[in-house]
Amino acid sequence: MEKYVISGGRRLNGVVKIESAKNSVLPILAATVLTDEEVVIKDCPRIFDVLNMIKLLEHLGVKCKFQNENLIVNASGFNGYSAPSSLTGVLRSSVFLLGPLIARAKKAKLCYPGGCDIGIRPIDMHLSALSTLGATVTEFGDEIICTAERIYGKDVYLDFPSVGATENVILASATGLGETIIHNPAKEPEVFDLICCLNTMGANIRFKDNSHIVINGVKKLHGTYYKPIPDRIEAGTYLLATAMCGGEVEIRGVNAENISLILHKICDNTCITSIKDDIIYVKSSGTRKNMSFETGPYPFFPTDLQAPAMALATICSGTSVISENVFEMRFNHVADLIKMGADITVKGRTAIVNGVKNLHGACVKARDLRGGAALVLAGLSARGKTTVNEVFHIDRGYYKMDEKLRGLGADIKRK
Ligand code: UD1
Repeated sequence: MEKYVISGGRRLNGVVKIESAKNSVLPILAATVLTDEEVVIKDCPRIFDVLNMIKLLEHLGVKCKFQNENLIVNASGFNGYSAPSSLTGVLRSSVFLLGPLIARAKKAKLCYPGGCDIGIRPIDMHLSALSTLGATVTEFGDEIICTAERIYGKDVYLDFPSVGATENVILASATGLGETIIHNPAKEPEVFDLICCLNTMGANIRFKDNSHIVINGVKKLHGTYYKPIPDRIEAGTYLLATAMCGGEVEIRGVNAENISLILHKICDNTCITSIKDDIIYVKSSGTRKNMSFETGPYPFFPTDLQAPAMALATICSGTSVISENVFEMRFNHVADLIKMGADITVKGRTAIVNGVKNLHGACVKARDLRGGAALVLAGLSARGKTTVNEVFHIDRGYYKMDEKLRGLGADIKRK
């Protein structure tokens, strides 16, 4: 298993380019099953989650081909409705295929999804929403079987604004019969992006009063050429890296509006930033003051940046209080940060971080995607050498993280 070896303490300077958002590309890939025509995803990142989703689509007869930075997908040869756990169990997003498979093949037989080990991550809301839309849902051990002659538009009430459940309902009902209204939907920018992409394919989906999503089913979807939004989590990670290491970095290809809260939370206490078009200029301010926050559904602080932001909090002055309100087990990185000299106490879903002057290098292990990124940031700012093992977790969502960081002057090697 590959690892990163980092010699910490270097300032970061230069330019880093942000990829298209992982959490947009993955549901968009699931949407490609809904048409026989070609879908081109512009600037599609070759991260592991995307590559695994491609394998899953290919298993279903969908052709996927990279042409430079673009991914060309053609589902005209679509010929399946089931996939084994070896394909579904390696990523969370396999669950997004339930809706499109029912819509296209009238049947979906998938094993439970995988993804980061950050909590129980049930899919009960996905399944009950799909049954509201007319699907018969049966579970046999690890296998989920959904059948429906047709998806019927209905009112779907979500107990929590789940990103995945919202997207599955959108995907299932885009070509359903009649009107589906999602009450209490997720409002993450990536949900809007999926809607935009589907609308370019001929769907009729809109946000109403910023509180409901209304989907009027259409007969048929067609192909599209679509550029997903930039990855706000990747942008936030490089912002945090600069705040931790010091220096001056240009983060290019961002949507500043989508990360305004992140910018405000991270930057107010640690950096000076300015924005021009799609570039954020970040300059560390030399001081790092404590930064308390709690995660929540958009527009609150994203759970995906909790771990990287905690890495920064470990070297801020004073005490930062960080509450994780989305996933119940998303503190996998804490033990390793403590190994690197951090002073953190966890009480339930809250971590109390007393800032220390410096972290020191240690041998640590990525246990999930964002927790792994947090350890890389910690290693970059620490004194001495840090080894981050099992970096395949990081490859799931960050494209060439080591190469991008080397481009900024970091001493990080992949071994
Ligand atoms: C998506 C993102 C993930 C991000 C998360 C929150 C993808 C591939 N993943 O994950 O990166 O961290 O949104 O922004 O887009 N829940 C249930 N039952 C369900 C569904 C969810 O109880 O049927 C719970 C979850 O356990 C969790 C919470 O709802 O506690 C939020 O989950 P959700 O928004 O669905 O996250 P994901 O779609 O899994």
